[in-house]
Amino acid sequence: MRVLSGIQPSGLLHLGNYFAMMRPVIEMTRTADVYIFIANYHAMTTVDDAGSLRGMTLDVALDFLACGLDPDRATFYRQSDVPEVTELTWILSNVTPMGLLERCVSYKDKISRGISSNHGLFAYPVLMAADILAVQSDVVPVGGDQKQHLEVTRDIAEKFNQSFGETFKIPEPRIEKSVAVIPGLDGQKMSKSYGNTIEIFGDPKPTRKKIMRIVTDSKTVDEPKDPEASTIYQLYRLLAEPAEADELAARYRAGGMGYGDAKKALAEAFESYFAPMKARREELAGDLAYVEDVLAAGAAKAKQTARQTLDAARSAVGLA
Ligand code: ADP
Ligand code: TRP
Repeated sequence: MRVLSGIQPSGLLHLGNYFAMMRPVIEMTRTADVYIFIANYHAMTTVDDAGSLRGMTLDVALDFLACGLDPDRATFYRQSDVPEVTELTWILSNVTPMGLLERCVSYKDKISRGISSNHGLFAYPVLMAADILAVQSDVVPVGGDQKQHLEVTRDIAEKFNQSFGETFKIPEPRIEKSVAVIPGLDGQKMSKSYGNTIEIFGDPKPTRKKIMRIVTDSKTVDEPKDPEASTIYQLYRLLAEPAEADELAARYRAGGMGYGDAKKALAEAFESYFAPMKARREELAGDLAYVEDVLAAGAAKAKQTARQTLDAARSAVGLA
């Protein structure tokens, strides 16, 4: 089974990215043929400064390797090192109805938040389809917000196959049910664009401060509380052992525990969960030549796969 997923280098990675996407993909490398890439072409739709784009791309590479991605078990690359996907994007554009893109919630949402509308932002799902179809992936693990883009990808692939003959595999989305939407500090979906994130490799002091700022209801210390309705507990459950999570849930229900104590427990669980990865990240940051070698090897392999698909697509439409 081939699996592919990508992440945009458009800011520091947070708990939502980690639990919904990074961790499941890293786990899949044990049993599947996994492709993971840093979507720097996609990030161009919101990042317009060369230094930032370069720096954030390197950060994502360090983050993935630090979180346990074994490059011998996966194909890990920078999107722009496989420019075949941009040619495939053009080919796919010609079987992509405007209405399909006009309906994309993510595009409308970005516009409504003031991101300026340009062709790149609008055509973003076609580039995403090219990423996925170029490597003929069977499964694409993403967070719930990307589901619509996967539907677009499937529509495009089916339309192409109908018009020009079987060329692309039709991919399935894989959405981690237990962690479909990770809440942020304000209880809404955790997202860079909402300013409510907890970064997995943030500095300890500001991170603790953020955790202490998590919005709660106004129940007093004595009152029993519902763990399932609490952002603190939702996050704690992801970071702690199941027995520890059950214990905290029991303390919520019993009453007598304030949200401040729950926040402290969350901060400690967070720190111990990410401590080993943080140490590994520091080591990697001291050996950037190694990181570059990993990305170069990944790109060479992804390029080979993408080339085969692109040649088939070129031939199917009459370019070759
Ligand atoms: P952001 O919303 O912070 O900009 P991205 O759009 O870069 O995050 O998301 C990268 C990946 O992480 C995607 O697969 C996305 O679905 C997933 N993801 C991001 N935030 C969350 C969240 N709060 N809950 C679940 N999945 C998330
Ligand atoms: N659009 C995805 C996001 O914002 C990133 C992405 C680009 C992606 N290409 C992809 C994810 C292909 C999965 C497969 O998170």
